[in-house]
Formats: sequence, C-alpha cells, structure tokens
Amino acid sequence: MSTLAETKFERDSADRPILELDNIGKSYGNVNALRGVNIVVRQGEVTCVLGDNGAGKSTLIKIISGLHDYSEGAMKLNGISRVFGSPRAAQAVGIATVYQDLALAPLMSVWRNFFLSNEIRKGLFLNVARMKQIAGDELTKMGIVIPDLDRPVGSLSGGQRQVVAIARAVYFGARVIILDEPTAALGVKASGVVLKYIVKARDAGLGVIFITHNPHHAYLVGNHFVILKLGRVVLDAHRSQLSLEQLTAEMAGGQELEELSHELAGSDPAKVAEAHTVRHGDLFGGDPDADEFVEEAEK
Ligand SMILES: Nc1ncnc2c1ncn2[C@@H]1O[C@H](COP(=O)(O)OP(=O)(O)OP(=O)(O)O)[C@@H](O)[C@H]1O
Ligand SMILES: [Mg+2]
Repeated sequence: MSTLAETKFERDSADRPILELDNIGKSYGNVNALRGVNIVVRQGEVTCVLGDNGAGKSTLIKIISGLHDYSEGAMKLNGISRVFGSPRAAQAVGIATVYQDLALAPLMSVWRNFFLSNEIRKGLFLNVARMKQIAGDELTKMGIVIPDLDRPVGSLSGGQRQVVAIARAVYFGARVIILDEPTAALGVKASGVVLKYIVKARDAGLGVIFITHNPHHAYLVGNHFVILKLGRVVLDAHRSQLSLEQLTAEMAGGQELEELSHELAGSDPAKVAEAHTVRHGDLFGGDPDADEFVEEAEK
C-alpha cells in the first residue's frame, strides 16, 4: 500500500502525459454530448475543465472514471489505450473520482470513510486502531486536523469532506484525481481550503482534473485550461498563454455576452419598478385581493 511520500514522482516526470483523450466522442441517442475531444493530463499539473451547463463536463468525468463507455476515439493511460468496463477498473489503475455529494457516506465515521472498501483486518476483525491511526496521520500530512475521527462525516463541513476524499485518494495511490465541481456549493473560505488541497495533490505528483464553472478558482490553481462548449473543446491553453481576464471572458462567452447586452439594452437596467404595480400571485395564499392587501399594509 502506498503512502503519501511514496506516491511522489520524480520532478522530471512533470511534463509526461499520464492521461490522453484522443478525439473522444460520446452520444446519448441522438444527443452528441462530446465531439472530437482532445485533452492531455500531465503528472504534477492541475488541468482545469470549464464549461457552462450542458457543456459535457460530467459526461467527460464519467468516461474517464469508467462509469460510461465512449462512442469514438481513444483514451490512453501512460500511453496505453484503455476502455474501462466499470469504475472499479478505472480505480484499479489509479484513477480516483471525487464526486461532490457522493464522495463519502455521511453517517459513517471519518476513519471508516477513509478505508471504505479497503478495510484493514486483523484475522476476522477490523483493525480499528490501525485504521484510525493511519487516517489521522494522512489527514495531518495534508494539513487538516479533525480531532475526533469517530465523528460522522455528515457533521464535517463541505470543504472538510472534500479534503478527506482527496487525502484518501492520495493515500490509496491515485495517479489521476478528478474533482467534480468541488467548490460549487462552498463559500469563499471553504473553497479556499479545497483549493489548497488541490495544490497538495498536485505536489504529491498526481495529475489533477479540476472541473469547475468558476474561472477565478481555476486560475488560482490551474496549470492548464480547457473550456468545453456544447461538447466541443473551444479553448485549450497553458497558463503562460492566458490571463485570468481572458479566461473569464472566454467563459462568459464574449460574443454571446455582447449579444445579450444588446437584447437587454431596451429593458432599462437602472429602472426600479413601483411596488404597487407588482402582481404577487399566490404569495398570500392565492387571495385575489392580494395587491390591495400589499397596498393596505404599506399605508
Ligand atoms: N444520460 C443521458 N442521457 C441523455 N442525454 C444526456 C445524458 N447525460 C447527459 N446528457 C446530455 O449531454 C449533454 C452534456 O451533459 P453533461 O451532464 O455532461 O453536461 P455538464 O457540462 O456536466 O453540465 P452541468 O454543468 O449542468 O452539470 C447535455 O445536453 C445533456 O442533456
Ligand atoms: Mg455536470
């Protein structure tokens, strides 16, 4: 079993592709969720995949993590073509996926979650003391202190849960870790915590795939940026080729924003509608005199 220290790769491996998607396509019936997607993920780098709703981000993760098959192209791990028949097959070669909500079992303790389906046994029994000790040590190495490892994971903050899932993947020897919108439901501070651990996973030599809607979060940690739009790659750039402003503009869809601003120009954004002209519908239990009620209350 590997430890955090053992999963560190040689520094010169940093530009070696660990995962290559070559012209990947995926259709659901007649919906083309992905078309001609080329992405290279390197060890010791954070590859950010950005895109709007329906862009194909989740489909991409599902293909890499073995949950879905792909219809076209090839996926190579360390240069060897792979088709994963199941998530277990992907995990077996070191691809770990941290799904936002499904990452951990909320009612189970922190240490139990850490070892879920990889339990250490002593004869017929679980070696609880050993598992607690390792879970505690590994979380400390990642810089997170959870004093009581018997606490159910459901009582941790969203950010802490993500970190436990990242530490677990690193400990069990993941080579590629995919994080599915890990900061989407988090506040500023908790997002910061998760971003810090994304950097730690990178420093441990993993290839990190960070899926996000947020160009600011991506730019804080990303080496490489890929934007998907309607299933196609519309931008693929290294950090040195792209500023945060450019990434934000690309994400906002410069041209579309321009068109939208023309469309909304006639709506007078500075206008404030008068309260008594607003129809409140069912707000007061469907009372047909609701408007009068509002006006009465305002007197
Ligand atoms: N199981 C499915 N069956 C049919 N169509 C699907 C299925 N899953 C996804 N799609 C379609 O494929 C396209 C890409 O969806 P996907 O979920 O990958 O997008 P996404 O980038 O993850 O979006 P979001 O940001 O909303 O999560 C969408 O048009 C979606 O409707
Ligand atoms: Mg999605």
